[in-house]
Amino acid sequence: MSSRKKVAILISGGGSNMVSLVESMGSDHAARPCLVLANSADAGGLQKAATMGVPTAVVDHRPFGKDRAAFEAELVKPILAAGADIVCLAGFMRVLTAGFVGQFQGRMLNIHPSLLPKYKGLHTHARAIEAGDTVHGCSVHEVTPLLDDGPILGQATVPIHKDDTPDTLAARVLVQEHKLYPAVLARYAAGNREPLSFS
Ligand code: GAR
Repeated sequence: MSSRKKVAILISGGGSNMVSLVESMGSDHAARPCLVLANSADAGGLQKAATMGVPTAVVDHRPFGKDRAAFEAELVKPILAAGADIVCLAGFMRVLTAGFVGQFQGRMLNIHPSLLPKYKGLHTHARAIEAGDTVHGCSVHEVTPLLDDGPILGQATVPIHKDDTPDTLAARVLVQEHKLYPAVLARYAAGNREPLSFS
């Protein structure tokens, strides 16, 4: 029996971070992907996951309206059924309640496109440009009930250029995201929670 940790990856969109995580989990990795779960059947990452041979599931949040707890009661089912040891949020754009987070506290990670604690929430690239920052980046952190909070496990920086738009900056940050998240997950799955940083 494999002792590798099982990783469920939650996505909402194209899933480029999910792809980089799945591709990083080769046979010598302390973890392996067990599920890619989306909150919309339209999430482009679902097809990519299936192509890579990873089981997929969808729990659409829309029928639940504002009832987050009812949505999460369904969301948790495929994660438990897959026997996930670690949950990676990778562009998962739903706010999670303390009740859900509590079920995975200490074993749920998120990637956020800013140098936390700066720019929690949305529009991080536009806000960094607007503030006149010269450095921006991304963070991977353990998920706690507060949004985009929790112990930081890794950060990677990029320069902000004078002619950057939110889109050009986002593209530069995404290149770093694809390096940072796999690097943090590899360490985390092996029990190393020392923060990692690179530029
Ligand atoms: C990534 O930039 C990720 O950091 C961001 O969404 C994008 C998803 O891209 N996440 C958040 O903003 C979470 N608050 P992807 O689907 O190609 O991985």
